[in-house]
Amino acid sequence: MKATAKAHANIALIKYWGKREAAENLPAVGSISLTLKELFTTTAVRFDPGADRDTLVLNGTPADSAQTLRISRFLDLVRKRTGLDSRAAVKSENNFPTGAGLASSASSFAALALAATQAAGINLTLQELSILARQGSGSAARSVFGGFVEMKTAERSEDAFAFQIAEPDYWDLRLLVAVTSAEPKKTGSTEGMNRTAATSPYYRQWVETGPADLQEMREAIRNRDFEKLGELAEYSCLKMHGLALSARPGILYWNGATVEVLQAVREWRRSGIPVYFTIDAGPQVKAICPAGYAENLHKKLSGLPGVQQVRIASPGPAAHLVENQ
Ligand code: DP6
Repeated sequence: MKATAKAHANIALIKYWGKREAAENLPAVGSISLTLKELFTTTAVRFDPGADRDTLVLNGTPADSAQTLRISRFLDLVRKRTGLDSRAAVKSENNFPTGAGLASSASSFAALALAATQAAGINLTLQELSILARQGSGSAARSVFGGFVEMKTAERSEDAFAFQIAEPDYWDLRLLVAVTSAEPKKTGSTEGMNRTAATSPYYRQWVETGPADLQEMREAIRNRDFEKLGELAEYSCLKMHGLALSARPGILYWNGATVEVLQAVREWRRSGIPVYFTIDAGPQVKAICPAGYAENLHKKLSGLPGVQQVRIASPGPAAHLVENQ
């Protein structure tokens, strides 16, 4: 009745933004990501026949009712599937800021999907786990897998899952996370993408051009073409943020330091360092480079005004169990 699982955050190189169907959480576009070894969530689930409600302790503190409800709805999916009726006590720890655009929902729901199904006594395949995790958060479908991962868009829930494109050791890249604010963001990704889909005049083009971006990124990964990967990652990131800006009211995830980091990354690139940026639904900037440049870029990024902390991450593994009692 108890299990603990660990899942790693992932960073989208080709972004997911927008749902084709909200109830099942079906993404409107496919996406490609890299799972990160150094950023992870550890989640323990214990089903307790004596408990009258689900509880969530997040980073040592009881979670608010909205967060608990989201977890509870997710656990309902597991209960429905297994016939189990008990409520659960969930304890989850992130080793990085929560809700600040560092993909905490991805690692959280991937870890929860694995821990909850194991605690309920069922063994799902990775594909089944990915489908389940997706129903908690779209990006979580990708954190079930390690290395380079693609998430499909599909019309039916059973077809909307992620799969691995390449193992973690396929390509020795580094991703440096420059934290410019650890505050939780004001507009969560679910709300942000739903508003974008409902109001942006460019949303249709975003959906229509998605498959071509995926195709190019698959090729860049297949050929280990770093310039191509970096150029596409920046393109997809700016396209997504430009799209969010065109919502009504517009959604701006960046702060001043975010922009300073983007300018610096492009300046360093002009000076010959192979480095590109990407940004998720928050103000942190992620710089991507071949492993050999990571230490130097760590120093450079740490020296920029407004950068509070820089973490170096490398390609990471699939979600896995930590213990099962
Ligand atoms: C900008 O997976 O958090 O990080 O499915 O509504 O939970 P929901 O959204 P979520 O969105 C992630 C958006 C993104 C891009 C990405 O990870 O692909």
